[in-house]
Formats: sequence, C-alpha cells, structure tokens
Amino acid sequence: MSKYILKCITCSREFLPDEIEYTCPNCGERKGTLEVVYDFSIIRKRPPVTLPELERDGIWAFDYLLPFKGEYFRPNLMVGNTPLYESKVLSRKYGVAEVFVKDDGRNPTASFKDRASAVAVAKAVEKGFSTVFCASTGNAASSLSGFAAVSGLKSVIFVPATSPIAKLTQLQVYGSRVLAIEASYDRAFDLSMETGISMGWYCRNSAINPYLLEGKKTCAMELAVQLQSTPLDYVFVSAGDGTVLASFHKGFSDLRESGAINVIPRIVGVQASGSAAIKMTFERGEPFEPIDIEASSVADSICVGKPRDVIKACRYTKENEGIIIDVSDREILESIVELARETGVFAEPAGATAFAGFKKLSRAGLLTPETRVGIIVTGNGLKDLKSASLVLPELKKLPPDKNIVKEVSGED
Ligand SMILES: Cc1ncc(COP(=O)(O)O)c(C=O)c1O
Ligand SMILES: [Zn+2]
Repeated sequence: MSKYILKCITCSREFLPDEIEYTCPNCGERKGTLEVVYDFSIIRKRPPVTLPELERDGIWAFDYLLPFKGEYFRPNLMVGNTPLYESKVLSRKYGVAEVFVKDDGRNPTASFKDRASAVAVAKAVEKGFSTVFCASTGNAASSLSGFAAVSGLKSVIFVPATSPIAKLTQLQVYGSRVLAIEASYDRAFDLSMETGISMGWYCRNSAINPYLLEGKKTCAMELAVQLQSTPLDYVFVSAGDGTVLASFHKGFSDLRESGAINVIPRIVGVQASGSAAIKMTFERGEPFEPIDIEASSVADSICVGKPRDVIKACRYTKENEGIIIDVSDREILESIVELARETGVFAEPAGATAFAGFKKLSRAGLLTPETRVGIIVTGNGLKDLKSASLVLPELKKLPPDKNIVKEVSGED
C-alpha cells in the first residue's frame, strides 16, 4: 500500500503514484496539477521532528512527510536546516513583537530551489531516469544542475539568455547542457516541455512535477521545528509561478494533519508589481481562471507572466485565509540594501521581495505590537549583483596616497 496518492487540484481525480507522472489528463497542464495526499492514519504514528534530527539530516528529517518509502536515494549535498535569525532591530523599527528572517540562500546552490531539486533528483533515480531537464528563471536550473552533478545524472537546462550571469555560470560549472533561449521564461518553459518530454527525460518543471512542492514545503516545516514554542502570525514569501507560496500552505497543513502543530500562520505571497499575475487571478475570485500577462520586473526569479502553479497558489491561499500583495521594483531594490544593513542577510531581488511585502503590510497598519513575523529569503544576493548595484552609489576610485585620511574624515 502506498503512503500517498496523487490528486488533481481541479477535478479531484485520484491516481496511484505508478499510474501517472505529471499532470491530470482531463484537466491539462495548467489546471490539472497534482497534489500529493498522504495517508495520515500511517503518518500520525511518528513523533514530530526534533532540532538535532533537523541539524543532522536537513530536509530528509521530514521524509515521513515526503513521497518516499523504505530505502531511497539521497543526493550527497546538505540541503535545508537553513539559519533562522531573530532581528530585534527590525521588530523595533516596524513595531511588531518579533521578526525572524530565514536565510534560504544558504542552501548548497544558494537558493530555496535546492529543496525541490533534491527531491526531484531522488525521484529521477527511483524511477530509473538518466537525464533530467527543466526550464527556469535561473535558480531552479542552477539547483537542478548541482544536484544532477552530484547524483551522476545528465541535465539539460532551458533558461532565458537574460538570466543573471552568476546563475548561467553555475549551470556551466556544474556541467549541464545549457540552452540559453533568447526569449522569456514563459516561452523557454513551453519549449522545454516540447523537447524534454519527447526526448524521454525526467521533468523538473515548476507545477508539472508534483513532487517539487513536497521538497519546497520542508521550509515551512523547518520554521515550525526551529520556533518550537509559539507559532508565527505571518509568514512572507515571494511568488512567481506560485509553487513556493503553495508549498508554505501545504507544509503547515501537512504538519497540522500529522498532529505536530495546531495553527497555520497567515501566509502572505508577495509579487513584483510588473509580474503580479497570481494576485490578479486571486482577486478576480473563484473559480480561479489563470490571467496571463507580459511580465516585467527587476526580480528575475519571480518575473513570470504565465504562472504554472497559479491554481494551487490561489486555492490554498483562499482555504487558509492567506493574502497576496505586490510591491514595486523600487521597493524590492531598496529592501535588498535595508535587509543587508539591518540583518546581515544579502538577498537577491526575489529574496528581498518578501521583506518588501512585510514593510508594506506594516505601513498599512495590519501588523500589531503582538505580531510575530517570519520573512523567507529565498535566494542569495551574490546571484545578482547588477540589480543590487542599481541602488548603490558608484564607487569613487582613489589614488593610493596619504590624502586617504581626508577622504575618511569627510574632508575634500
Ligand atoms: C529566489 C526565488 N524566490 C522566489 C521564487 C518563486 O518561486 P515560485 O516560482 O515557485 O513562485 C523563485 C523561483 O524561481 C526564486 O528563485
Ligand atoms: Zn483533473
């Protein structure tokens, strides 16, 4: 008996894991994304994960809530157990009880996406594939690339040629076959599906592969373990395709189902204003019909006009009374600098977007002096130095002489 089944998010049709690979044939790629539904009558028998278990095993500490059984393949790269910092500076500044910043840019390839790639690669090995592929704005690609490298799999990556140079370089360093497409992420995604599926490679595309969200949900679960005492009131996270946002809802609700927690924090999905397609779809209400747009944002990782996990993101947000907001590119860029100066955590634009969202809700008066907040930094700032430099002054070059003292004492 399998410990889970796969269920279509739209028509609720159920499939055994061996019956289906990606999406529901009735509802198609967009509306027919599959949910992994566990048999909690088996899972409830296990006590909650402890801090030492999390420190030792990272995301695999939650394998009782992951789609694996018995002996399974674990790529040999430490993923998860990322630092959680309490910032008294930010809680004082914004008038809330506590602010916690989770630095997921500290994963092995420097983004949250490692959580999903680790699970995807484990599944590819379990299923006997030798090549994996994905389309990505950059981070999912570099993380798949790294995890494929350490697992002895070939990887083929479809990325927009405009992705930041650090992300493109990571792909080449790890030895992927890199197809740098002169088009948007949305187009690269469609091309990857046409090519990868016909070649018989394993697909690690957002929303299409039902197991990615399972890897991503471990971040929410870590938060619960790291903050054992009182639960958070709000968790802020950025959204592009919507899988990361959906994964926070699923992570907390799977934990609740398993008996480990009682309440789910209010989850706030934060989008860039120029690519706020999920927010638009959510605001139009049920039944959710994807609204696609031409996306444009400095936050390349969430610059998505045709979000692939929009249905799950909207459905879960509705069910759990979450919120979806948007912030401007200017707010995102300024948040990179403020977050670094106040907490020491350097985020890429999509990582700082969550913090920008927190500031927006705080300004709107929604957060009280009793509120406890979690901010998820999904990607490391070194991934995209060009964007951060847009809000920094140009460096003045100085001659190497003793006039330097005048410079530092503020004289001309
Ligand atoms: C750093 C970072 N943050 C957030 C996201 C958003 O994730 P999703 O596309 O699942 O909404 C991504 C996706 O690429 C990302 O790389
Ligand atoms: Zn269906």
